[in-house]
Amino acid sequence: MRFLEKIVIVGPASQILGVKIALELGIESINTDIKKFPDGENYLRINIEDETIIAGKEVIIVQSTGPSANADQNARLIELFMMIDSVKRMGAVKIIAVIPYLAYTRQDKIFRPGESQFAYAIIAMINNFGIDELYSVDVHAPIVLSECTCKAINIDSMKLLADYIKSKEIQNIVVVAPDKGAVERSSAFANSLGENVPVEVFEKVRDVKTGEIKMSGKLNLKDKNVVIADDIISTGGTMASAIKLAKTSGAEKVFAVATHALLLGQAKFRIIKAGADEIIGTDSIDNEVCKVSLAKIIVDYLK
Ligand code: R5P
Repeated sequence: MRFLEKIVIVGPASQILGVKIALELGIESINTDIKKFPDGENYLRINIEDETIIAGKEVIIVQSTGPSANADQNARLIELFMMIDSVKRMGAVKIIAVIPYLAYTRQDKIFRPGESQFAYAIIAMINNFGIDELYSVDVHAPIVLSECTCKAINIDSMKLLADYIKSKEIQNIVVVAPDKGAVERSSAFANSLGENVPVEVFEKVRDVKTGEIKMSGKLNLKDKNVVIADDIISTGGTMASAIKLAKTSGAEKVFAVATHALLLGQAKFRIIKAGADEIIGTDSIDNEVCKVSLAKIIVDYLK
């Protein structure tokens, strides 16, 4: 059997994670140059002077598609597509896309007439670009990956996040799911923390027109240290509401944990003001709350 030479292309949104993945694999990593044309169009160039560096190789592109201060998710997706297009044109023989945060997967259902199920359109676009394998992490609606025409894996990061909490040796932990959709993840989190760690759930209702949420639930969390585990923190509304409710239910310490801590606008303010002791995210999103690296677990799948 012939083994292909591999190389990692580190997308602009995943500079730390991309390099860590390359280091774990013991292979070379290359970054990109990006800019915007005066009319707003994106430009991306893989930072090489010679196309033979890519030709004939297995290319692993690492690019999360979460929004940041420099670029929104649309720009991140365009950059991803540009990298795929570029390596394809240069003769890559196998293309693997590592997209830790897959944007638009919250738009997997129709709530009001006239809406788009854009999560599936994103998968269709990825299919169109023709990659060989896709790895993502805690996809909001993993079902959308079933539309992928290539091998597509949804990696569960809850054990890694649980290990971080475990290292703090906190007693009397209760894991709270902020809504029904987070129960499965929260249970995985609790199981990784240890045997018999209880999982509780709050009720969340989101107004489909305004996006406003209402959270409720009667729990007795007196003297308990609470971990609220979710896939995404976007505006922080869900997390802040869950923290407030946990605090009024008697919680001592509260840890806000999410795979993809996008932390838009005033999210940090809202979450800390609500009473969180710490916000914990992964390097799916490269920001100050990223305390857990996904590199090793992604490499386990890539190997
Ligand atoms: C929703 O179902 C997700 O799992 C998250 O709870 C949600 O996306 C978080 O959004 P926000 O931080 O804006 O409340």
